[in-house]
Amino acid sequence: MADTAVSILVVEDNVLVGLGVKDVLEADGHEVTVAADGKSATEQLATRAFEVAILDLCLPDEDGAELLERWRREYPGMHVMIMTAHGDIQKAVKCIKAGAFEFLTKPVEKVLLKNTVRNLAERLRLNRQVNLLSQLTQRETATEPSHRIVGGGAAMHQAMDLAKRVASSNFSCLFLRGETGTGKSLFAKAIHGMSQRASNPFVEVNCSALPAMLVESELFGHKRGSFTDAKEDKAGLFELADKGTMFLDEIGDMDLALQAKLLHVLEEKQFRRIGDSKVVNVDVAVIAATNKNVENQVAAGQFREDLYYRINVIPFHLPPLREHPEDVPELCRHFVDIFARRFGKKIHGLTDDAMSRLKNYSWPGNVRELRNVVERGCLLTQTEAIGTDLLFFPTLPGAAMAVAATVTAPPTPAGTVMSMADAERQAIRKAMDEAQGNRNKAARILGLHRTTLYKKLAEYGIE
Ligand SMILES: Nc1ncnc2c1ncn2[C@@H]1O[C@H](COP(=O)(O)OP(=O)(O)OP(=O)(O)O)[C@@H](O)[C@H]1O
Ligand SMILES: [Mg+2]
Repeated sequence: MADTAVSILVVEDNVLVGLGVKDVLEADGHEVTVAADGKSATEQLATRAFEVAILDLCLPDEDGAELLERWRREYPGMHVMIMTAHGDIQKAVKCIKAGAFEFLTKPVEKVLLKNTVRNLAERLRLNRQVNLLSQLTQRETATEPSHRIVGGGAAMHQAMDLAKRVASSNFSCLFLRGETGTGKSLFAKAIHGMSQRASNPFVEVNCSALPAMLVESELFGHKRGSFTDAKEDKAGLFELADKGTMFLDEIGDMDLALQAKLLHVLEEKQFRRIGDSKVVNVDVAVIAATNKNVENQVAAGQFREDLYYRINVIPFHLPPLREHPEDVPELCRHFVDIFARRFGKKIHGLTDDAMSRLKNYSWPGNVRELRNVVERGCLLTQTEAIGTDLLFFPTLPGAAMAVAATVTAPPTPAGTVMSMADAERQAIRKAMDEAQGNRNKAARILGLHRTTLYKKLAEYGIE
């Protein structure tokens, strides 16, 4: 079917008229089904979806105007056009108000019929395109601009080296492993950016964030009517990612049935949208990532062994930060640069004490945790060097045990770590000062919603 062709249900009790309409529209490339009364039209709609219905107002068994209202409620995605021999202005106005997109009086000129449907089909095609584009741009704006990868130590050097080699290899599948916050998402984007697919889409999906049914329709798309909420045909992300890279984050959380479908795409480079018989061919490189122990998941029957072997062709491990503490100073400088600029402050770095604490910390949350610590320090500092008193470790108190267990340096003196509440109170006070008491402005500085700030002001008793 051409992409301006639509599926049409013609409800017309006069057999000759019904067949005439069918002929005209089929000659224009549309797919047309004729039903002679309300009952058989309803039966048709129960089995499949139509994009357009052409409805006669006088049917032997039902009132067309009532059908129109019911269908607009039950099938809001279906566009209904009224075609009647008993047309008058009042009826026409009533039907248009009830949601019909057109009201034609019989006998209908063939050209008029053809053009009316053609215009609608063109509009639907444009809608689909806008939908696709907005899905793409939403994803692009949802991902941060690709950040620089920092770290000149041996471990990072090795990782960057492998990333470059993989990117230039025309790989079809890559498995990124590493604890949370080690930079898997960052590397995935960077590898795509260095590959020959760089000018094509990079599409990111977090498999654990959505229910299984939604993940399937997100990834593979669906045909309209294939389930209750499938109001329109929808292209899946695999189609959007064609010629580009698909980043499947948290792959360990993917539903088992979906894993089978994914394996099929990886092996055959093709799939079907949910509820559709048509095969879609795609050329997509897949980067899968997880911070879980997939080998255990395979052993426990939670992850398909065949998929594991398929994606594990190129295993890529990002080391935890505690294994390359030599990169902490450079990472700190990088994040201080980012946040000093963002907060419009002059900050040149950390005090020696503060830096030595960071170098000796065990970083259970890895680079992400370091980034958060530096961000908070930049927000709170009133001098050009962030001092120890402003260091706050978000993963504490759990992290406090990790520090005790893995850090060889002297334990942190009590009192140098600020409690979450204290840090928050201090940040809010500072923002309120900067905003000269203007709460909306303070909320903007803090990146908080206005009402959240109001609640916190009350909670901390800040005037
Ligand atoms: N080597 C690095 N240089 C600069 N920034 C880094 C580096 N590694 C990680 N980051 C930053 O740290 C943060 C966390 O990284 P990222 O989101 O890539 O981690 P992840 O491994 O995907 O974590 P998760 O498993 O939780 O999804 C991001 O802001 C990222 O930009
Ligand atoms: Mg990630």
